[in-house]
Formats: sequence, structure tokens, C-alpha cells
Amino acid sequence: MLKKIAIFASGTGTNFVALQQAIQTRPIAAEIALLVCDNAEAPVIKKAQADQIPVLVINFHDYANKAAAEAIILSALQRHEIAAILLAGYMRIIGPTLLTAYPHKIINIHPALLPKFPGRHGIEDAFAAGVSETGVTIHFIDAGIDTGQIIGQRQVPVKQADTVASLAARIHETEHQFYPDVLQSLINEGAI
Ligand code: GRF
Repeated sequence: MLKKIAIFASGTGTNFVALQQAIQTRPIAAEIALLVCDNAEAPVIKKAQADQIPVLVINFHDYANKAAAEAIILSALQRHEIAAILLAGYMRIIGPTLLTAYPHKIINIHPALLPKFPGRHGIEDAFAAGVSETGVTIHFIDAGIDTGQIIGQRQVPVKQADTVASLAARIHETEHQFYPDVLQSLINEGAI
């Protein structure tokens, strides 16, 4: 039985594509059954449509509050029988509606070695701090910002000649391998 996964993304969607390609080429018992996107202009939408993956575009400004918007998302997740959610560049904090419905089933990827450099600028902040090593963290989501239980981390060296752009490229390359690896392990272990 394939586990039905939803990806939540707000932007470019390179992790979305990496996950979809991995699912098509590796023995990962999963199917991306829904993309949830909070930005109608996001390039990730066309990437999902190209693979005939259903897309829910949700404009949070159309709703009175986060709970009302997440209730719409939740009904789509239930309709598509989604077992777990992978955040891939989703620029919103998940609220109690979804956290309660999917306890320990919402996962995020962060471009730094948490608990160091949480927040929106993990790559830039690590670079500015002058660390010799940074990396990628995959973790369960809780009510905080980048605070949930860590599932795994992968180190990425910072080289002498690096710019933020070259470091970012190395981190993204790592993400594109690491996220499918973790998805595969979680499914094999029965964690999701
Ligand atoms: C990634 O760097 C991820 O770690 C962060 O957001 C970025 C998303 O990039 N949470 P993309 O949209 O998958 O290209």
C-alpha cells in the first residue's frame, strides 16, 4: 500500500521535484497525492500540475483566521486520505487545527543544523556567523518555530571560497538527497 503524502510549499519547489523524482525511481512506498500551496504565483504549482498531482491553492487572506483556512486544508487532506505531510519551503507556521489532526505526521526540512540558525534565513545566518560547517535538519513539527523533534541531520562543509550562493547550492543539493532518504526510512520503519 502506498502511503499518501501531501507536500506543503510556498515557492520554487525544488524539494517537491526531488521528492517526486525519488518516489518515481526508488522503492519508496509513497505517492504525492496533494500539493498545498499558499501562494497562487508559486512556480511549484506548475511542477505539480505537470505530473497531474492535485493542487490546493489557498489564500489565507480570504479567511477570517488561520483556523478557518486550515479547516479547508484539513478537509482536502481527509478527502485525499493523506497519511503524512512534508513541508518543503512552506512559509507559514502550522496551527493547532493541523497539528492536532496530524500528530507526529508533519515533517519539515530546514537548511541549517538546528537548534542553530532557526528561522527564515538559516543559510545566510550560518554564513554570516563564519561557521566551518552547517547542514540540513529534518524534524517533526510542533507549535514552535523550527523546534520540533529532530529526525536526522546531514552536515555540509562551508569552504573558504564560498559565497552565500555557492553554500546555498551545496545545501540544496544535500536537501534533495536527504529528504527522499528520510521519507524512505520513515515509511520503512512504519513511522508515517
Ligand atoms: C529549502 O531550502 C528548505 O530547506 C526551506 O525552504 C527551501 C525550499 O526550497 N525550508 P524549494 O522551494 O524546495 O526549492
